[in-house]
Amino acid sequence: MSQNENETQNLYIQKVLHLNDQRGAMPYCVVQTFGCQQNASDSEKLKGMAEKMGYIITNKIEIADLIIFNTCAVRDSAEKKVLGNIGAIKHLKQNNRNVIMVLCGCMMAQQHIPKMIKEKYPYIDMVFGTNALYKFPSLLYEKISTKTKVFLTENIDISIPEGIPIKRESTCKAYVTIMYGCNNFCSYCIVPYVRGRERSRQSYEIEKEIKELIKDGYKDITLLGQNVNSYGKDLKIETDFADLLRQLNNIEGDFRLRFMTSHPKDITKKLIDTITESEKVCNHIHLPVQAGSNKILKLMNRGYTREKYFELIDYAKSKIKDLVLTSDILVGFPTETDDDFLETIDLIKKVEFDCLFTFIYSKRKGTPADTMEGQIPYEQKHKNFAILIKEQNLISKRINDNYLGKTVRVLAEGKSQSNEDMLTGRTEGNKIVNFAGDEKLIGQFVNVKILESKTWHLLGVNIKK
Ligand code: 5AD
Ligand code: SF4
Repeated sequence: MSQNENETQNLYIQKVLHLNDQRGAMPYCVVQTFGCQQNASDSEKLKGMAEKMGYIITNKIEIADLIIFNTCAVRDSAEKKVLGNIGAIKHLKQNNRNVIMVLCGCMMAQQHIPKMIKEKYPYIDMVFGTNALYKFPSLLYEKISTKTKVFLTENIDISIPEGIPIKRESTCKAYVTIMYGCNNFCSYCIVPYVRGRERSRQSYEIEKEIKELIKDGYKDITLLGQNVNSYGKDLKIETDFADLLRQLNNIEGDFRLRFMTSHPKDITKKLIDTITESEKVCNHIHLPVQAGSNKILKLMNRGYTREKYFELIDYAKSKIKDLVLTSDILVGFPTETDDDFLETIDLIKKVEFDCLFTFIYSKRKGTPADTMEGQIPYEQKHKNFAILIKEQNLISKRINDNYLGKTVRVLAEGKSQSNEDMLTGRTEGNKIVNFAGDEKLIGQFVNVKILESKTWHLLGVNIKK
């Protein structure tokens, strides 16, 4: 965001704050997030701006004066969930005619959606897309002062939204966006259409944000981008993601650096060497492969072959001690035969990922795969999906069994959701560990001896060492 845009944003924040000050009581705001980590990070900015405009952030939707749904468009199921939730808040407008209902995020950045919202959900007050996030205060001011609907339908490709206030969810773990957008146009994916082209933040801005986080006691920093490996390609100076990691690794303090997501076509040996040589960078790589068949990878426009992927994995495993590998797999891409699918199963067995994020292909309007011939029937997609999960669960459990009896360093993040008597945290490799330990340990690195292993997490007890 330019100096000017920053000043404009502040001006509108003050204007809305002034309007809210004139109310009898402070208003409440709810932000509900759908979708990925990038959206969760955007929601922290929406909350940050709302708080500065005088709202109290709450989870109780019934008492909210401002309701924001930050939507996701990556799969049809995500959109259906959003629409279900929009339907479910209609009655709140009848209870409180002044409640302001806002939809933003990726789903709203598609051309056909705002029109449909206007027609089918007339009680929605405001719509804007992902890239207009920084305009939220001025749009809200317009809404409150004119009392008309505010629908911003053009999805502007702005510079970089620096300086937006952020209200973070956690006090020890933070997400820091290092770049916005994606240039890859994988043939199934809506992201490049809704988030626009790649834009990297200046490294000094990223460093400044992380230094402040460390000063505030944060110990686990995840660098976010749709494809962090192309960091810097759009900047004037000669730099890349490995250079950025080295720069951030030099920041003083006891903290961890992670990143996601990496694209296999752009990961370099230089980057893997940098991970090895940078003590704060975690031994975990999330490297979505999507499919194991070269035919499907080509149709997906992924830009690598299975052989190239194996080569990368071999190099990473040979260099990074105790490497933890995770991936995304997409089942049922158009024309995927059972033989193609078996190549995926073969690949996951050979690589032995610690954990997989598995998805069933969903048609996305405007993407090349949407109109491809050979769409796969529902039953076949679901049958293969179940096989994939079963195979991966066996692998994950086998890998987790290797931790039994070992002591791992965990950042204690909070109380476990499944068992209030336990704490939960993550290892350097991003494995979830639930453990018995004192609440006072939250926010600190602790040693945990692993006593039990599950498919998705480990169980243990805090020990002094
Ligand atoms: N259908 C299903 N899954 C998808 N993903 C992206 N687009 C689609 C789609 N159209 C998955 C990919 C990506 C992850 C974030 O979401 O596996 O890596
Ligand atoms: Fe989508 Fe591919 Fe970009 Fe990932 S790299 S956001 S899958 S287009």
